[in-house]
Amino acid sequence: MSAAAMTTNRGNDGFVECWNEILTPKWLRFRHLLSGNGKVHGDIAWPRFGIKPGHKVLDIGCGFGETCLDTARLVGPSGEVVGLDCVGAFLDVANRERDEAGFANVRYELGDAQEHPLPRDHFDVACARFGVMFFESAVRALRNAHTALKPGGTLGLVVWRGLADNPAWGAAKQAVLEFLPPPAGGKTCGPGPFSWEDPDTDRRMLAAAGFTTVEVFEPIDADMCVGRTIEEAVDFQLLVGPSGEIVREAGAEGQRRLPEIRARLERLMRDHVGGNDSDSATSRDGASGNGGEGHENTGVYMSSGSWVIVARK
Ligand SMILES: C[S@@+](CC[C@H](N)C(=O)[O-])C[C@H]1O[C@@H](n2cnc3c(N)ncnc32)[C@H](O)[C@@H]1O
Repeated sequence: MSAAAMTTNRGNDGFVECWNEILTPKWLRFRHLLSGNGKVHGDIAWPRFGIKPGHKVLDIGCGFGETCLDTARLVGPSGEVVGLDCVGAFLDVANRERDEAGFANVRYELGDAQEHPLPRDHFDVACARFGVMFFESAVRALRNAHTALKPGGTLGLVVWRGLADNPAWGAAKQAVLEFLPPPAGGKTCGPGPFSWEDPDTDRRMLAAAGFTTVEVFEPIDADMCVGRTIEEAVDFQLLVGPSGEIVREAGAEGQRRLPEIRARLERLMRDHVGGNDSDSATSRDGASGNGGEGHENTGVYMSSGSWVIVARK
């Protein structure tokens, strides 16, 4: 099904529409950065989820389905992977790449994770790589996943920590605040990339959805690529990052100051060409993912931080 053909029930439509109409073109343009950085964190987190041959796995907010294909290798032909996402355009890509890779044990479903009908007590693992931060109600989506998990099943999540732990996003935001006021409204507890930054809130959301047993709650720190060139890194910040929100919210004044802001961001990005520390992808126990193998000295690299969370039904 194409994005244009997508329909969902009401309830989360504003956010689902936002994903389809505003975020999808950006995600398609910057897929190499967004998915690449997801992989840096996801590759460290995934072994914690205990996925085994024969398992049935639900991937929530699966996007282009990269983690579904990785998971399909773990569960093997006797297992099953279901990727769920609300953006038809992402699933069009995911279906094509699944077919090209020849996986018969992966299927994708289009829907809103908060209300999409899922089989009861069916999955061994429900996982999400940066997939649960954007729901109008994370608790509803997690409750839906809880119902779909077998008793004793595993929930495995990777979510961003706060901006202070993510200079890859926060440094550009601070730089833009030298020119423009912060967006109106301040901090909210609504959906957004950093909505899982606070462990206490996260544990309360998990418990409200039925996940009272949290077995792993650990930080992952990793350098991530924010652009192959300085120009791309500036575009990435302004189109995808929180710094862009400040410029957009400032309206005409934001546009007027944009040349100065771009020049400031170019200086910031230039300081990070090749990164700070090319071997810096680690979790607390020292496990490292792909990012830990050292990146080549091209592109702009800045540090980022996520939580890996494992809970049990
Ligand atoms: C940050 S992206 C992560 C994508 C993918 N897991 C990855 O790591 O590359 C968040 C994903 O959640 C999906 N999403 C957002 N709200 C959703 C909802 N209510 N139901 C299902 N998927 C949703 C988006 O379409 C997007 O693909």
